[in-house]
Amino acid sequence: MCGIAGYIGPKPADQVLIVALERLKYRGYDSAGMAVVNGELHLRRAAGKLKMLADQIDASPVDGHCGIAHTRWATHGPPTEANCHPHLANGGRFTGAVAVVHNGIIENHDHLRRELIEQGCIFQSETDTEVIPQLLATIYLGDSTAAGDPVATVRAALARLEGSFAIAAIFPDHPDRIIAARQGSPLIVGRSRIKDGRREMLLASDIPALLPHAHEMAILDDGVIVDIRSSGAVFGTFSGVPVDAPFKTIEVTADAVSKGRFDTFMEKEIAEQPEVLARLIESRLRGEALVEPDLGLDLAAVNHIVFLACGTSWHAALNGKRYLETLARVHVEVDISSEYRYRNPVASGGTLVVAISQSGETADTLAGVRLAKAKFIPVIGLVNVVTSTIAREAAGVMPLFAGPEIGVASTKAYTAQLTALYLFAAQAAKAKGLLSPEAERKLVTAVRKLPGQVESTLKNSESAVIEVADLFAAASDTVFLGRGGEHPTALEGALKLKEIAYVHASGYPAGEFKHGPIAQVTAKLPVICLCPRDQLREKMLSNIQEVKARAGRIIGVGQADDRELRDLADLVLPVARPDDELLQPILSILPLQRYAYHVAVRRKCDVDQPRNLAKSVTVE
Ligand code: M6R
Repeated sequence: MCGIAGYIGPKPADQVLIVALERLKYRGYDSAGMAVVNGELHLRRAAGKLKMLADQIDASPVDGHCGIAHTRWATHGPPTEANCHPHLANGGRFTGAVAVVHNGIIENHDHLRRELIEQGCIFQSETDTEVIPQLLATIYLGDSTAAGDPVATVRAALARLEGSFAIAAIFPDHPDRIIAARQGSPLIVGRSRIKDGRREMLLASDIPALLPHAHEMAILDDGVIVDIRSSGAVFGTFSGVPVDAPFKTIEVTADAVSKGRFDTFMEKEIAEQPEVLARLIESRLRGEALVEPDLGLDLAAVNHIVFLACGTSWHAALNGKRYLETLARVHVEVDISSEYRYRNPVASGGTLVVAISQSGETADTLAGVRLAKAKFIPVIGLVNVVTSTIAREAAGVMPLFAGPEIGVASTKAYTAQLTALYLFAAQAAKAKGLLSPEAERKLVTAVRKLPGQVESTLKNSESAVIEVADLFAAASDTVFLGRGGEHPTALEGALKLKEIAYVHASGYPAGEFKHGPIAQVTAKLPVICLCPRDQLREKMLSNIQEVKARAGRIIGVGQADDRELRDLADLVLPVARPDDELLQPILSILPLQRYAYHVAVRRKCDVDQPRNLAKSVTVE
């Protein structure tokens, strides 16, 4: 969590950095700050949303062309101004010698803090981060060979830090340099084209924050320090060995990271789903045939798959298990990454780990990837951000092609994950000789219809979704029920409502509801029942009867022409029916995404930046 940005160039650094922070605020948004060098360090920091910092800078701009900035998701210490980054060195001659921004956790901060206090440093925050500028100042102004040299100083300090981090530091004595280092948290250097013999140099936790200034980027690996100057960037290991970090053209455009005609990123990303799925599907088909992904492994030899994922990606994995079991007859386990990483999983020949992650930076999933690799289990990543750490550490990557997902609630990445998993299962079935040419043609036809069905479902369900949101926006609890492929939809519908509308919500497998949770049902409880025409519809209708018999308010999600569902439900959210019922959950979730959005708006919640959350969970 937390976002880091840095800028050196001819433009006012504060103006560039505030836009960069805007693009990074999905990583944390409880407070923000920046430091700009101009003779000395000029600091601006504000608790609360980024607007508080932007207002402060409007009222009191900082004149300077080199600076670092940070948007925070609090770990150590509440989101007060004192705990905002950047943090400065403080105490006697150390005061103002260096400013630092940090993403990650310094595990040995307590020990370092005590040592630094003894050397005369004065601490002003409760953060773990503050030990970094203090440590840097004591080295920079000390008497070792690193003194006076910013890169040598950072290198010497890194040798003392334990934990995972990305850091950036500026020294007023070196007004056109940013020294940055990465150990476990992402960091990217960007550079513009040369204009009038000069370049703009940028630094950020993620690519969108480099736009529109940079046109090329280089990704830092763990254990690398970079010395950024207006003339370019020099990379080396923590121990001083030069590193060649190639710059590549940035493919993402500034348009892709703006809201366009929408008020929120969540609305934009929900609306983008037809084009996202069309792009993904075509990337995996050639004519009427499936193309086997280039994963560097023989899918025919895989007989056991472990999915690792968190949150929404975990819900996608639950359906991935159905797809692989049904189509390719492969044994699949679905593991929550934070659980997997602390077990001692059994590795056997033929096992494949598939890490599913929109961001590709989720700390628990990354730790699971590393654990699997340490056991010599092949790992592939199903990721949206192909420059991410998981994408780079996995042996093969299945990209989602969903474009930047910025709203904290995952929407387009979820339906892309489901579609990608369905295609992956079909490809595994084909590799194992379990998909006849006729079945392959039918499957390709079914999947190609999906983008159109997504579009019509979003359009046709909207008025009913609004009606249900008007009726139940004030309800303090909501239950979601589904069976088979719709059980993950129920979990995902509940997660969306919890995270952006702060409504207590639970998803259950409908057959399990009678084993306790049905006691919650009252005439006030909205129960959203996923009941499309699939093989478990009859069973689901019986479960709905059980809720109705106890006076629960039934909102059905199913086909518009389903008379039985209509008779049982107070209201029905209509969804299209795909050719293959395995694809139904991709359509059933759509009205629930819109429902969560409408309820959040009615409850006056910040849809894109719900409280207490961050888009990328890079701490465990
Ligand atoms: O980037 P990842 O897919 O690894 O993220 C996993 C979860 O943090 C994420 O899905 C989270 O649950 C979303 N906020 C859900 O909308």
